[in-house]
Amino acid sequence: MINFRKAAFSFSLILFSLFVAAQNEEGQRKDIGSLKKSLSENFLVGVAVNASQVAGNDARAMRLVRRHFNSIVAEDCMKSENIHPEEDRYDFQEADRFVEFGEKNNMFIVGHALIWHSQLAKWFCVDDENNLVSPEILKKRMRHHIETLVKRYKGRIHGWDVVNEAIEENGDFRQSPFYQILGEEYIALAFQYAHEADPDVELYYNDYNMYNSNRRERVVQVVKNLQQRGIRIDAVGMQAHWGISYPNINDVEESIKAFAETGVKVMITEFDLTVLPIVNIGANISDREEYEESLNPYPTELPPAIEAKWNERIEAFFNLFIKHKKVISRVTIWGVTDGDSWKNNWPIERRTDYPLLFNRMYQPKVATQKLINRKE
Ligand code: GLA
Repeated sequence: MINFRKAAFSFSLILFSLFVAAQNEEGQRKDIGSLKKSLSENFLVGVAVNASQVAGNDARAMRLVRRHFNSIVAEDCMKSENIHPEEDRYDFQEADRFVEFGEKNNMFIVGHALIWHSQLAKWFCVDDENNLVSPEILKKRMRHHIETLVKRYKGRIHGWDVVNEAIEENGDFRQSPFYQILGEEYIALAFQYAHEADPDVELYYNDYNMYNSNRRERVVQVVKNLQQRGIRIDAVGMQAHWGISYPNINDVEESIKAFAETGVKVMITEFDLTVLPIVNIGANISDREEYEESLNPYPTELPPAIEAKWNERIEAFFNLFIKHKKVISRVTIWGVTDGDSWKNNWPIERRTDYPLLFNRMYQPKVATQKLINRKE
């Protein structure tokens, strides 16, 4: 009897502590708030996740993703070199997991990227002797690749980056193998194949340095051309790999306006804000530079003055996005915490950058917390 009472007492004590712990956690959750809630009236708030995170190797990062974001994009696993490494072999494992995660958490899921010259499967545009294939063969391969991916995730992926980075800094079409074989027609074909595979899915054109007026003008022309031909395009994605000293915010605004004027939505698709010395503006991932200590000035921590500048810029950019919320449908951050960012290794390897909304301790930065605390 006495034992029973003791046991009952300990049991109630345990229940009580669990109750208090739950209260605290709930309380903390309330204090921390959520980006997706505070920004929900404006646009979707997305984040790029990598395969290792989706596989469950970083539970803390995934908690941030679930709490703060209502859209995800696959950082790498849907690029052709990964998902379609050989002509007759697809590898869907990571992409399937990514889509399942998004579905489980009711997220707007973005597929990235169907046709892109970079991280391109080796076989895609060439024959056994490494010569470019004929237009007919490339069309067949593009159709097969696009159909297979889009149909597999039909009704589950909500939007696709159909063509990525087709335009150069000077406004010319990039001399990618796709362009060399098919001319600019490859863009229209990619959109057409994607639409035929899933008539309900949104389709996007995505590129970097979209504030640049040459690229802006050419993108507007590409969009109008698709529209005139009755080919579906829903949005233009501005990658937004920017820094604390560039680009000029007015140039960004000009581009938002110009793209919106065509009637499509605008998306900020790969937002990050580097604090490191600039050796290469852009996102052409084959461009690489040599490491020098002077180019890695903050290996252990960020000086307060630089941090303040970073926070200011984040605020300024988000104010701009909110100002244009009628035309901006999504803002996606390119990674969860600073430690995850590609900017630590590009264009120079092994630097320490601080470009994302959460730091290496999984904590929101000052500007992030301000965004979280915003009242609509
Ligand atoms: C480009 C691509 C992304 C990614 C970044 C760098 O912006 O669109 O998929 O590769 O470069 O990580």
